[in-house]
Amino acid sequence: MIFDQDMKKILFTREEIIARSAELGAQITEDYKENAPLLVALLRGSVPFLAELIQHIDLDVQYDFMDVKSYEGTESIGDIKIVKDLDTSIKGLDILLVEDIVDTGKTINTVVKTLLHKGANSVKIVTLLDKPSRRVVDIKADYVGFEVGNEFVVGYGMDFNQKYRALPYVGVLKDELYE
Ligand code: IMP
Repeated sequence: MIFDQDMKKILFTREEIIARSAELGAQITEDYKENAPLLVALLRGSVPFLAELIQHIDLDVQYDFMDVKSYEGTESIGDIKIVKDLDTSIKGLDILLVEDIVDTGKTINTVVKTLLHKGANSVKIVTLLDKPSRRVVDIKADYVGFEVGNEFVVGYGMDFNQKYRALPYVGVLKDELYE
């Protein structure tokens, strides 16, 4: 594929991501069988994972999108601006937040608080990747596809300067490309 030569290594292939999404989907189906959740995906990185995951959840799930940005130049933890808010009223709903990767945890932590503040009944997190070594706020995803070490990854929704999002796998770029 077009960007294959930019990769130092491939961490998770498309087949592995699909297989893991099927396992997560089965678990989510079981856990939410009494009450289907509203999936809330954070733009833009989580879109490929959302698209795969929903096909493995055997419930009448709906989904909506949010786009948040960190405030630049502030030190305070989790200060985010909502660039695109949900179109759905979430009062009383069980929310399953869909993320591409939980890194420091600041983004997801603030979004969870915001959704609870808006009246969600419950908020859980499903993430394709988890980078626990980088965490600065005490938050854990309820469903994790794979753990990764302290490396910057691209593909399957994740970008480096908006590039590589459309790759059908997750990989690490050659060192010189990150410079
Ligand atoms: P957090 O608030 O530090 O947890 O940041 C989470 C967001 O940062 C993710 O949704 C990604 O958009 C981005 N991010 C964190 N680590 C990586 C990475 O290794 N590759 C690409 N994007 C990343």
